Amino acid sequence: MNLSGAGLESARQNAGMDRDRPIGVFDSGVGGLSVLRALRAELPAEDFVYFSDAGHAPYGEKDEDFVSGRSLAIAVDLLEQHRIKGLVVACNTATAAAVHLLRAQHTQLPVVGVEPALKPAAALTKTGQVAVLATRGTLASAKFQSLQASLRDQAEFSLVPCDGLAAAIEADDQHQVRALCRRYTLEVCCFGTAPGEIDTLVLGCTHYPFAAETFRELLGPEIQLVETGEPVARQTRRLLEAQGLLNAAGGGNVRWQTTGSPEALRAAASRWLGL
Ligand code: DGL
Repeated sequence: MNLSGAGLESARQNAGMDRDRPIGVFDSGVGGLSVLRALRAELPAEDFVYFSDAGHAPYGEKDEDFVSGRSLAIAVDLLEQHRIKGLVVACNTATAAAVHLLRAQHTQLPVVGVEPALKPAAALTKTGQVAVLATRGTLASAKFQSLQASLRDQAEFSLVPCDGLAAAIEADDQHQVRALCRRYTLEVCCFGTAPGEIDTLVLGCTHYPFAAETFRELLGPEIQLVETGEPVARQTRRLLEAQGLLNAAGGGNVRWQTTGSPEALRAAASRWLGL
């Protein structure tokens, strides 16, 4: 939505009472915390509600109807229980399956999705070779395929569906995380900075930034790792600003909701966000 001048002012007045409401953020589990971290840095005065659907995870290996059904149900829950003023779909798999449905069903609600950072990676790579790690669901989606096709002339993308990796990160099973990162990075040939080698790795699932240190150890410092938290946070600010919904004077609080283990969510929030 583009607003300027009088339109922007009247949107501000209309939204005056709504600015104090929280922003809803959801993922299949703790992965969306990598996005929440960037959101809190970009919008420190906003309040958030984080919904982890760990009771129905992983999304990446389930069919699209299941994931879109969960996404629509979570949005309704966040609107009814918390009166959210905006929604960030902090999950690549759910964005691919449902962001268009969420926007069609909630036309007044600003909805921000995430997608694997192919565009930034195509701009960064010097060898023109990029590897993309994501869930099976994301890579199979029409949305991802059209994104990839739109960048065909700019870089070559090697796609790796990473079954089990989000679940291992969710369970904080470091041994399994390392084994899977190793297996999936060995599947593409070859990382390096020489011509023809892959110099850029897209972490195309919001869980994977929590394995960034492991990827770095395995691949060395010269391979660029790209994720989407910061651009998503900036886009959220732009959308809220355009609708006069930014809250510059809130408390920066986070409320938590999960269909899985509250303990696991608490431990992850404390470990990754210091909350
Ligand atoms: N974090 C999610 C994503 O960005 C999905 C992980 C999963 O549940 O498979 O795709």
